[in-house]
Amino acid sequence: MKVAVLKAEADTRTAATTDTVKKLIALGAEVAVETGAGTAAGISDALYEGAGAIVGPAETVLAGADVVLVTDPPGRERLGKVAGGAKLIGMLNPFDHEHTLADYANANIDAFAMELLPRITRAQSMDVLSSQANLAGYKAVIDAAAAYGRAFPMMMTAAGTVAPAKVFVMGAGVAGLQAVATAKRLGAVVSATDVRFAAKEQVESLGGSFVTVDEEAMKAGETKGGYAKEMSADFQQRQAAHVTEHLKKMDIVITTALIPGRPAPKLLTEAMVGGMKPGSVIVDLAAPRGGNVEGGQPGGRYQMGPATVLAPSNILEGLPGEASNLYARNLLNFVTLLTDKEEKKLAVDWDDEIVKGVCLTRDGRIVHERFATLTVPATPEIEDAGEVDNAD
Ligand code: NAI
Repeated sequence: MKVAVLKAEADTRTAATTDTVKKLIALGAEVAVETGAGTAAGISDALYEGAGAIVGPAETVLAGADVVLVTDPPGRERLGKVAGGAKLIGMLNPFDHEHTLADYANANIDAFAMELLPRITRAQSMDVLSSQANLAGYKAVIDAAAAYGRAFPMMMTAAGTVAPAKVFVMGAGVAGLQAVATAKRLGAVVSATDVRFAAKEQVESLGGSFVTVDEEAMKAGETKGGYAKEMSADFQQRQAAHVTEHLKKMDIVITTALIPGRPAPKLLTEAMVGGMKPGSVIVDLAAPRGGNVEGGQPGGRYQMGPATVLAPSNILEGLPGEASNLYARNLLNFVTLLTDKEEKKLAVDWDDEIVKGVCLTRDGRIVHERFATLTVPATPEIEDAGEVDNAD
């Protein structure tokens, strides 16, 4: 079994670390890493070689590879070099890159989008959304603290008392709960809200207070899989009014609200932000999916009325080492699931709930039920890698 690790197209994270390279080799794999794949995450080519990997250009690394590990969707040029039948595994972000499914099918690549992993206990060690969201929640608070011109904890000094910062977290899933915990550790007074009722207890157990306008509507706002549904217009209106009042007292707001497969819900309007205190800071973690701030500019830092808004398109670019460690472990655990450890070769159980959950394409067809309506038009460009731009 040959495992190729590609350098990310537009990310600082890497899909394998020296630790996971060694473990892949122990699984029976030959590991080939693209030159520079780990540089931004602090892993040099020499370190990969020291762990037992071959390091070289994409062409060499991909030649004959059975498994291709990626951080983000590979551009068409490199996709054209992936061998037919190979298993492409990574954060393929299929909702934002629907056209790539046809490309994978046409190239006869079996593609696995790790973001689609079912949220079941057995899959937790492979859950890239959780591992990355957890770090994102932490980093959001650190970045907010750096952008905020005042202190977080309460300090009682001879010269007077410093009041603690008031932090409000909107969306208390994996990222939000880590933001609550981190802000609490820094000494802030923390509150949070979510449409899922289960989040109330979780926020409170971390020492935060829960902000809601209607507990009954919230109880109905959770799917069996534990995700949020889109809430009714009436709920959104009443919750917005309640939150608007709360916001007037806040110093820092961290928004993390997402609905899988849909644009991020707009939680903050310009008017709501306009009512905040001068010098307040908003971190919009939903920026990659359009942002939680209406009329915002996802992808950078901007001023909206009294607030500075940080809306990074990839906040984990600033934490590449840790993010790569966890991400690479998630991928290793998934590859292990696809491997027969006795025979030391790939043995995919296509009926496994986890495999089915993430598999986008197989044997030249789009097989994932969420993308069943997509067709596979011929894409001759993929054969002609030299002439195709790989902008996704
Ligand atoms: P997510 O990243 O899809 O969304 C973030 C948060 O935003 C969620 O808590 C969601 O309820 C909230 N949200 C959506 N619309 C909102 C709105 N209009 N206003 C306020 N909040 C809104 O969710 P994430 O973080 O991936 O996790 C979702 C749930 O799945 C959590 O309960 C989490 O604990 C659970 N989970 C379960 C796992 C398992 O293995 N059993 C693994 C990971 C997460």
